[in-house]
Amino acid sequence: MVKLATRRAAASTATACFAARGGRHLAEVERALGVTAGTVDAAGSTSLQTVHCLGYCYTGPAALDGTLPRTAPDLADQLAGRAEPRAGHPRGRHDRHARPARRHRGRAGRLGGVARSGDRTAAR
Ligand code: FES
Repeated sequence: MVKLATRRAAASTATACFAARGGRHLAEVERALGVTAGTVDAAGSTSLQTVHCLGYCYTGPAALDGTLPRTAPDLADQLAGRAEPRAGHPRGRHDRHARPARRHRGRAGRLGGVARSGDRTAAR
C-alpha cells in the first residue's frame, strides 16, 4: 500500500513561471521544502511534483501547497514559512489582475484619447 505524504506540493514549470525567476524557482522550491521534484522526502511527509501551468501565469512563479495556490517571486520563502503566503499579484493587487474582464466591465471610455469607435483615422 502506498502512503501519501502529509504535505503535497506542486510547482508549475511552464513558460511564464520559468521566465519569472529565470529558471531558478524549482530549485528554490526544492530547497525550501527539502525534497526533490518527483519524489517524497525521507520522512515521507512532503512530496513535490511539477505541473504544466496552474493558471497563475501573470503572477508566477506559482505552486499549490496542498490545495492552496501560492504565487510571487518569493514563492520558495512562502512555502518555507519565511514569507506571508499569498496567491495573486506580487504587490497585492489581486482584484485588479485576477479578474480583468469583471473589473473593466461597464467602464466606457477606458480607451478615451487613444482610439474611439468610428474613428476611421485611428484604424488606418
Ligand atoms: S506558467 Fe506557471 S502558472 Fe501558468
